[in-house]
Amino acid sequence: MELQPNSTGLIIRQMEPNNLETPLDQVDSYLTPAELFYIRSHFSAPKLALPSYRLRISGAVTNPLSLTYQQLREMPGETRVATLECAGNSRVFLSPQVSGAQWELGAVGNAEWTGVSLGALLERAGLEADACEIVLEGADRGTPKEEPVPPEPVSYARSLPREKAIQREVLIAYQMNGHEIPMDHGYPVRAVVPGHYGMASVKWLTNILAVREPFRGYWQTSDYGYWDYVDHKPVRGALAEMKLKSEIIRPRVYETLAPNQRYTIVGVAWAGETDVTEVSVSTDGGETWSEAEFLDPIQRYAWRRWKFDWITPSKQGHYTLLARAKGADGSVQPEKHDQHYGTYVINYPLPIEVFVEELR
Ligand code: MTE
Repeated sequence: MELQPNSTGLIIRQMEPNNLETPLDQVDSYLTPAELFYIRSHFSAPKLALPSYRLRISGAVTNPLSLTYQQLREMPGETRVATLECAGNSRVFLSPQVSGAQWELGAVGNAEWTGVSLGALLERAGLEADACEIVLEGADRGTPKEEPVPPEPVSYARSLPREKAIQREVLIAYQMNGHEIPMDHGYPVRAVVPGHYGMASVKWLTNILAVREPFRGYWQTSDYGYWDYVDHKPVRGALAEMKLKSEIIRPRVYETLAPNQRYTIVGVAWAGETDVTEVSVSTDGGETWSEAEFLDPIQRYAWRRWKFDWITPSKQGHYTLLARAKGADGSVQPEKHDQHYGTYVINYPLPIEVFVEELR
């Protein structure tokens, strides 16, 4: 039997609903193929039929709209590459272990998205001057399992601050890597919010609601929230912008490498509203750092692959590899996990432990 390209498949973190991770070490391409792109869904994927599909835009607008799929496709489209990372990516690295899907390194992917800019849709709908947020709602609904459990089923909905929603990069997308968006990734239409954690990019999008008061829905208070401070008092804030992060994707944890050989360490790095300008690698647990080489140019909102040629030590043993990115805005990855983010935003340099010894 001939092996199909991309036949590596995904790693199961949870079945029903689908929560499947990308085997990042198997993906060499700049764009993550759709069939290898991680899937993070809270409920089963709703089946939306094109003839009856409508995208409704209502609330604080002068001209509410109800668009068919065809009408959306007829509007001027835009294409942009954007990295989506689930806010819980790398959770398995937290110690002691925390609850939630035990994502390793692959709840992140980089794809090319095509669609209509949300700003253009809001303009057509006549966004009122006092609308402060835009709520994006998907067609999937159910009862979340994590406490506090709401008394009735909720649909997946998230709001975006007006300032971000009207930026040109925010897309109401109908294509992923040049093809229809696959069912698990939000067919037929999803939001793509470049620079924000994946939870903002609402799949199976059916409703866009402009609101005059901040939205305090389940997926931005109970879940995907963090502890912020207002006047020195802790308040729940909604996770939004992705934090600077780099990952080593080869070698893998506990891989055995031959001594005194050239080994090319490879990885990816991305950021939220800034550009990744530098990645450093340590092969001695953070004692010393050397600069890695980028394989991709800067493109806002898209990841950059990088590599570092390591001459493995002649001394056999156990080595800890780390990668650390810097951003154009002067930001650097933090040394450890910030507890204000709970089980989310795991962007400290993740230790990849390897063995250097003669291969048998
Ligand atoms: N949109 C809906 N309607 N339902 C969901 O469960 N999951 C969100 C977001 N959009 C979700 C959703 C989360 S948490 C992430 S990380 C991304 O979708 C994942 O997108 P993907 O499955 O295409 O990788």
